[in-house]
Amino acid sequence: SERTFVMVKPDGVQRGLTGEIVSRFEDRGLKLVGAKFMQIDQELAEEHYGEHEGKPFFDGLVEFITSGPVMAMVWEGDDAIRQVRRMMGETDPADSAPGTIRGDFGLDLGRNVIHGSDHEDPGSNEREIDLFFDEDELVDYEKVDEGWLYE
Ligand code: GTP
Ligand code: MG
Repeated sequence: SERTFVMVKPDGVQRGLTGEIVSRFEDRGLKLVGAKFMQIDQELAEEHYGEHEGKPFFDGLVEFITSGPVMAMVWEGDDAIRQVRRMMGETDPADSAPGTIRGDFGLDLGRNVIHGSDHEDPGSNEREIDLFFDEDELVDYEKVDEGWLYE
């Protein structure tokens, strides 16, 4: 089992999609171990998106991600990093299959509703979890359905 960092971006929060997105991860059987409704400041935004510094869309990306509240979360489960990415769809909602979060709720690359740790960037999940959460803000607990979700 592994943990992945997931965030409903400001467009998703403003459009009232937070509950729907949380429901999808719950329905899948993933376990919520941390959640924080917050507004990201400039410094955190630049650190979080550090890999994109210098790219033409970087300033707009930082401006957007700091423009309103986000719902930052940590979800846990078997293969959680990759499974969450699959549920999110492609980076561009226009290329995302219906049934995925971006494919169902987005149309534009710069307003793609959700962020998830990159499964092709090992360690990005731990880096992002550490960036947004203190250790004591993550909850260790057993969920009653675990015996029914996993063989
Ligand atoms: P995140 O979960 O937000 O990290 O998305 P991602 O991992 O699917 O994509 P990536 O990390 O490559 O890019 C980060 C974010 O920058 C994306 O979610 C897009 O909103 C935005 N972005 C990426 N590429 C472009 C681009 O070419 N143009 C614009 N305007 N935005 C981009
Ligand atoms: Mg990314």
